[in-house]
Amino acid sequence: MNRVSDEIIITENLVYSYSSEDQEIEMQALAGVNLSIARGEFVAIIGRNGSGKSTLAKHFNALFLPTSGTVRINGMDTQDPRNLWRIRQTVGMVFQNPDNQIVSTTVEEDVAFGPENLGVPPDEIRRRVNLALEWVGMSEYMRHAPHLLSGGQKQRVAIAGVLAMRPKCIVLDEPTAMLDPSGRREVLDTVKRLNKEEGITVVLITHFMDEAALGDRVVVIDQGKIVMDDVPRKIFSQVELIRQLHLDVPQVTRLAHELNKSGVTIPEDALTVEELADALSGSYRESAVASYGE
Ligand SMILES: Nc1ncnc2c1ncn2[C@@H]1O[C@H](COP(=O)(O)OP(=O)(O)O)[C@@H](O)[C@H]1O
Ligand SMILES: [Mg+2]
Repeated sequence: MNRVSDEIIITENLVYSYSSEDQEIEMQALAGVNLSIARGEFVAIIGRNGSGKSTLAKHFNALFLPTSGTVRINGMDTQDPRNLWRIRQTVGMVFQNPDNQIVSTTVEEDVAFGPENLGVPPDEIRRRVNLALEWVGMSEYMRHAPHLLSGGQKQRVAIAGVLAMRPKCIVLDEPTAMLDPSGRREVLDTVKRLNKEEGITVVLITHFMDEAALGDRVVVIDQGKIVMDDVPRKIFSQVELIRQLHLDVPQVTRLAHELNKSGVTIPEDALTVEELADALSGSYRESAVASYGE
């Protein structure tokens, strides 16, 4: 059945085991994942090291096939080899190390590589390369050598390379892990804009909690299973639970939590500096009014 639904990614009871010859016991990297991602969503996936995030991501464009269970991309079962081509065009992947994703000697050639492999006609490639570089804010670097760019710029070129294949969804596996703070910001701003302005579905795997807080939704994975799935505000207000999963909460949320523990009663679900500042000035105003009243 190829029913068109609102979901672009659906996994049902997805199990994946890495097979190894020398080990008797099979370790399940994914132990029954049920996940639906809707078109246009921005979903962040977090989880401690080894929880199965990358293994899951590789199922989204059929780099890995389920040991059992199913993965459907835009209604297409990844197990059916006839779907492979269209699945790879639907979901583009961006990885951690920008250097491993550079294939050419100029930025424009690098971005053109994907559509060239898809057999896109040269005029159309030209158009796509220009547009993709514009989308990531790298047009002026078109003729530059990619290896001379900063980490953030390289990662934006890698994203442009994926965009030139016109995917409906991009999956980014810790794309900012090797970047400095300004590079991280460049990449995150780009990803956010692509989601909001171009309607591209985004799956962002990250170990930075303030990045995860940018998502419409945060999925927490632990030992190959989804253990939490909610809006960021609901996820990160459960500070103790998040800590039990060996994760952290965004800095702002942590501060709100600590303030509460020391007797300042403010909402614990603040995610941005502005929200926390508002909450604090509100609570300050209340206590000032209360002491005037005495
Ligand atoms: N190539 C591999 N061979 C065997 N086990 C692996 C391989 N890659 C990952 N694993 C194991 O699978 C589990 C999940 O790994 P991974 O998906 O990379 O987690 P994450 O991306 O969340 O850090 C871990 O226990 C890891 O050791
Ligand atoms: Mg990983």
